Amino acid sequence: MTDTYQTWRLDDGLQTLVLASRRTRLPEVVYWGAALPEEDDAQALAAAHMLDVTGGMLDENPDLSVCPEAVRTFPGQPGLIVRDHGGTPLLPKFCFESDQIDENALTLRFVDEENRLHLTVNFETDRHTHVITATTKLEAERPVHLHWLAAPVLPGPQLSDEMIDVSGRWCGEFQLNRTAWSPGMRYRENRTGRTGHEHFPGLIVPCRGATNTQGEAYAFHYGWSGGHKMIAEELPDGRRQIQFGHAARMETKPATLFETSPLYITYSRDGLNGCAVAFQRHLRDRILTPANDRPRPVHYNCWEAVYFDHKLPVLQDIAERAASLGAERFVLDDGWFGLRDDDTRSLSDWEVDPRKYPDGLGPLVEHVHKLGMTFGIWFEPEMINPDSDLHREHPDWALGAEDQTLGRQQKALNMALPEVRDFIYDRMAAILSKYEIEYIKWDHNRVLPAPDANQTRGSYALIDRLRADFPHVEIETCASGGGRIDFGILKRTDRVWLSDSNDALERLKMQHNATLFLPLTVTGSHVGPRKCHTSGRILDISFRAWVAAQRHMGFEMDPRELTEHEATVLTEVTSWWKHNRTWLETADILRLDSADPAVIAEQQLAADKSQFVVFAGKAGTSAQIAPRPLRLTRLDPKAHYEVTLINRTNAPTLSRGTPALKDGTLTLSGAYLMAQGLTLPWSFPETMWVIEGRKL
Ligand code: DGJ
Repeated sequence: MTDTYQTWRLDDGLQTLVLASRRTRLPEVVYWGAALPEEDDAQALAAAHMLDVTGGMLDENPDLSVCPEAVRTFPGQPGLIVRDHGGTPLLPKFCFESDQIDENALTLRFVDEENRLHLTVNFETDRHTHVITATTKLEAERPVHLHWLAAPVLPGPQLSDEMIDVSGRWCGEFQLNRTAWSPGMRYRENRTGRTGHEHFPGLIVPCRGATNTQGEAYAFHYGWSGGHKMIAEELPDGRRQIQFGHAARMETKPATLFETSPLYITYSRDGLNGCAVAFQRHLRDRILTPANDRPRPVHYNCWEAVYFDHKLPVLQDIAERAASLGAERFVLDDGWFGLRDDDTRSLSDWEVDPRKYPDGLGPLVEHVHKLGMTFGIWFEPEMINPDSDLHREHPDWALGAEDQTLGRQQKALNMALPEVRDFIYDRMAAILSKYEIEYIKWDHNRVLPAPDANQTRGSYALIDRLRADFPHVEIETCASGGGRIDFGILKRTDRVWLSDSNDALERLKMQHNATLFLPLTVTGSHVGPRKCHTSGRILDISFRAWVAAQRHMGFEMDPRELTEHEATVLTEVTSWWKHNRTWLETADILRLDSADPAVIAEQQLAADKSQFVVFAGKAGTSAQIAPRPLRLTRLDPKAHYEVTLINRTNAPTLSRGTPALKDGTLTLSGAYLMAQGLTLPWSFPETMWVIEGRKL
């Protein structure tokens, strides 16, 4: 007997997603991929999707629904695990209740009569960014304990051999891992209570043969800052499911309402770059809530120059030098408050240290303003040192047991408590009201004693309140570098501190991977000291400057260490960045398929496609002797482009030949640049070629 289906279809011009349900059950995604013809009949698609049954199988294959239900003999991980108030496991079984279809949104409601539960799934499409946003909500008529709730569950593609997810560590964020699909599951769960360096909540599933620039790929990002769980599972019958949600058991109290964070998904037929561009645009144009529309200012951050050793005349001198190099914002990092001479004390005592600043911060702020820069300041609002006035007064405000292991000598405050949030708000608001401050670097340097969704919600509430009351203040999200980067925190912040590593070689790689999710506008990148403080590597100023110029540029070294030559190079690259930043801020960052694994290259293509810049970083020594041509992407094959190697004077004397790019501007077709590519001059490792292109 042929079933009839209830179906729903979403289109955004590039991708189609079709849902179908049988006999009022939860629907399955029966199609997700390249846009289908409008006239394709969803009933037919649902019927065509039906799998056969053979020996050793149930008489009907259990649905791989948007929330797979254990009670329906689903052979994999369920999408919901819940217990009643007394702790007895519930086995929900949902039936269709209602739907609501708008042009770009679909909401489906289901009910489990027996357990008095309601499940709502929501999908929103976006024709500009091509990211679909999906959420799941569970409502209970009596309080229940939630163990696990997945955002709408998607099928994993079949023509795919592997998945790519992201791990990392302090000073080593955004490392990509490729894992082959096989029966069973890849399970990533972050139980640190913050997004973390270790488990960025993202997944890319390339189809067979996909590269950066071509082939099909599916991508996922979970927008939550409290730690996520991901399941990518191949079922015994060969189907694949992908689940994302908050880390399990992080809802600590029974309640009647639970909601996942948004799961952002996208399908690409332009390789990994299609996914990257969708996420970059979605973050930039839909998630961020910018405090102003000014171009991103060049930063100076004093951390690696002075650490905790704040002396007003030194900072003033540094500020002058930073301004003359081109900085437009001066950020005073850790060390200005309490008795903060090192990282053992004073977190939560947010009052200016009178020993270091006898007249308050005024003289420094005014000095910075006179130099034409704006002023930013560091806070670590969720944290407390046992050696602090606040801890002596309110030890009960700290999270975790007395005998807990500290992290960087500190504990986390219990952000679920309104009185804690009020206290921190008052202290921060006092500083923000007293001084003309337009930027906060918001740090979060330790993991939590245990994951707790209320902590994350408490942090969000504090940031939201400060943003509402100080709307001109921008916020940078930092957590020992890139430990809190996700679309949840980026709804309420403006920039990420990608890593504490200012080593340009490491940054080159990190930026290349992070751009699968992040655009230039939010990705902070600073020119570090000549000898990197976290790797000991000594890198040339030109390489350091160009790597920082790939993203939101800044400086973090002690400018007093710069030679005349270094200052000149840095000034020149900074002025190049300022000259170009307007179009760079809205450009798509495209990872290039480099024929030479030693070369990490990207192309930033203007929104109107009229110009581009290619950054080709030499991350190692090549196996072969001559540089391999570098193919460009997404150009108009019929158009011609003027191509200029703008830093050709950097060619070492060992580059003895005459490749045309060393001589001046070339005019080449898009077809040639994409098929043959650019033949660059020979170069040393740890150097960068920068090529500008203009469409004629
Ligand atoms: C960790 C951050 O990542 C650094 O940039 C710096 O702000 C320190 N904290 C300050 O303690």
